[in-house]
Amino acid sequence: MRHLLDTRSLSQAELEKLLVSAQLMAADWPANILQDSSRDKLLINMFYEPSTRSRISFEVAAKRLGMQVVNFTAAGSSVEKGESLYDSFQALQAMAPDVVVIRLDEPDALALLAQQVAENLHIVNAGDGSRSHPSQALLDAYTIRQSKGSIEGLNIVIAGDIVHSRVAASNIDVLGRLGAAEIRLCGPAAFLPEEPVSERVVVYHRLDEAVVGADVIMMLRIQRERIGETDSPDPGDYHRDWCLNTERLGLAMHDCVVMHPGPVNRGVEITAAVADGPRSLILQQVANGVHVRMAIISALLQ
Ligand code: CP
Repeated sequence: MRHLLDTRSLSQAELEKLLVSAQLMAADWPANILQDSSRDKLLINMFYEPSTRSRISFEVAAKRLGMQVVNFTAAGSSVEKGESLYDSFQALQAMAPDVVVIRLDEPDALALLAQQVAENLHIVNAGDGSRSHPSQALLDAYTIRQSKGSIEGLNIVIAGDIVHSRVAASNIDVLGRLGAAEIRLCGPAAFLPEEPVSERVVVYHRLDEAVVGADVIMMLRIQRERIGETDSPDPGDYHRDWCLNTERLGLAMHDCVVMHPGPVNRGVEITAAVADGPRSLILQQVANGVHVRMAIISALLQ
């Protein structure tokens, strides 16, 4: 694997191998898994958008693999003096990193950068605008398998701001390829795709209907930073129609699990009782993110 820019560029074999490798990383946890291929290599986190889970779990993953880590955030950097993404990237590349993990809001910039990088430098997409978030989709698939044994035949609801969500986009690809029976997209009309997405995808216009018989419910926050405050729905209206509460969860399968990529807006798209309840896998997703990202970094450096 040269870079990880998108889940669609992973073959089925690469996808499976990453999930199995994450399991092996988890099995050795919390022992140090220092590998010759990664020991003392340098990973730079280059983040143009805020992050807690992705940035820190890439850092923890790299350190568990014996790597050195440097963090760049646009705020406080020469980006504030007008430096372009290209020039900032070139400056960091001149310091000879082995892996650069990038989050940014421009959907096409990563592919352009990847065409120009040094031969031994690997790029990982940590979220590019609304387009894709491959490591999140991999950790979500890993978490569902851990909980359910398999993704095959499951009815999976993805609810909320689908159209602005890179998490939804990558999960639709990965969960479909891993055999989900039905991927139910659900949200206000303005948050739903206008075109059919894939043959496994079914669009619902009411959360109460989408969750009936669901095995997995993945809630998404409203991406206010992409919509603007004036076009964002009123939180009170949104809570009434689109919030996953205990009553709505009761319409799903008795063993339905609840997921959320975070950050969670409690009381808007999910109640605290559900987010903190026994069906919630939210913190398990975060924990698994370290193992999955160890597997990704390890695959790139081999
Ligand atoms: N899920 C996710 O990408 O979270 P962060 O924005 O905190 O990294």
